[in-house]
Amino acid sequence: MEINNKGNLRLTKYFLRENLYMENMESTFLKIKPHSKLYKGEFITRVLSQGKKSWVIAMPEAKGKFIPLPVGTVVEVSFLHGHRAPFQSEIVARSFDGGRNLTIAAPGAISRGGREDKPASASRVIAMSSGKGGVGKSTATVNVALALQSLGKRTCIIDVDLGTANIDILLQLKAPYNLFHLVNGQKEIEEIIVHGPQGLMLVPGGSGLDELANLKDWQFSRLITAFNKLDSLADYLLLDTGSGVSRNVTNFLLAADEIVLIATPDPHAIVDVYSLIKVLANYEVKSGIKLIVNKAEKEKEAYHVWDTISFASRQFLHLPVEYLGAIPFCDAIAHSVKNQEPFFLYNRQHYVAEKFLKISELLIGAVPVVKGNAGMLPFIHKLKKVITFMNLRDTMRNKNG
Ligand SMILES: Nc1ncnc2c1ncn2[C@@H]1O[C@H](COP(=O)(O)OP(=O)(O)OP(=O)(O)O)[C@@H](O)[C@H]1O
Ligand SMILES: [Mg+2]
Repeated sequence: MEINNKGNLRLTKYFLRENLYMENMESTFLKIKPHSKLYKGEFITRVLSQGKKSWVIAMPEAKGKFIPLPVGTVVEVSFLHGHRAPFQSEIVARSFDGGRNLTIAAPGAISRGGREDKPASASRVIAMSSGKGGVGKSTATVNVALALQSLGKRTCIIDVDLGTANIDILLQLKAPYNLFHLVNGQKEIEEIIVHGPQGLMLVPGGSGLDELANLKDWQFSRLITAFNKLDSLADYLLLDTGSGVSRNVTNFLLAADEIVLIATPDPHAIVDVYSLIKVLANYEVKSGIKLIVNKAEKEKEAYHVWDTISFASRQFLHLPVEYLGAIPFCDAIAHSVKNQEPFFLYNRQHYVAEKFLKISELLIGAVPVVKGNAGMLPFIHKLKKVITFMNLRDTMRNKNG
């Protein structure tokens, strides 16, 4: 082979790929090196089955943990034995059902290490909130996030409940650092992200975001860089906010692309969620509000709760509220929360798991309200604007008595 002759080189590579293609690769051991800041190093895996355009490989493991490389990750693939040429590929699918596995593009099936049809869309930022505390916000966030993951959507929860941040506990994860460490220059986003089951990511918020308006420029730019990275890592960013109408909550709701509210049939929860919708309407929110009714005894009862809230909101606030569905009151959920075993993960066959799946499918199918401006980067700018505006308004009000 003449190195200088590009035509020859290409031809040789082509033949190498074609030969690889024809050969039976099943059970062949591979070494894969992802282009990823999150999953560093090389991992050993095995070809489980071979298609024309893709190979299914075992999900690699390291230190007893699965490495659930997200779809879209570019990987360098080499062969553990023999003298076959290494090649660049990409994760094109991953599965957690049945055997855990990843699918990589077969040699020659991709060009430049990336799929040509790869969408360049930004992640959708969805704020989960409620009028009243204890209605099941965090439980719904975790289970919807796991359902989204199971549907192949890379999901990250950002725990911005400044009062009772507990997603790490619900997922039985250790979250030593949070956004506070990031804005203070102590940690990078990769060090803050905690990796949960099924590849679910968690960013512990801590007090990193509540002082946003007072951040110095260098701190804000750290946040921008971090969220820019987050944007490329996840398709869905779910914010678990606190409850009620305080600024700590509404700031996040106003900055998000979509708002999912959780209520229960408890009259207090209905009244409080309506108060929250009223506050949002006063801040000129015109659409993008969705409702999940949790802890309902019956489907009909849940529908009635939505109907009541939706009617009042439309009638008096001219603000539509979409219905995402009902989660029944269920002992298995309470049990899973107590045992820190995410319900969706441990009860996949349970009929209530199907409810979370349905809600997630509706979320995916729903057209994002803010088109072309979605994603984490505009979110963080919007959040800063909202907080600055609120602070300014407070100062004016205080001055005017
Ligand atoms: N569908 C359900 N059926 C039975 N129990 C549930 C259900 N959803 C949530 N719970 C229980 O309700 C309690 C509160 O849930 P969770 O912590 O998710 O609420 P929250 O709205 O996030 O609360 P907080 O306002 O404190 O953040 C938990 O003990 C949980 O077990
Ligand atoms: Mg909570």
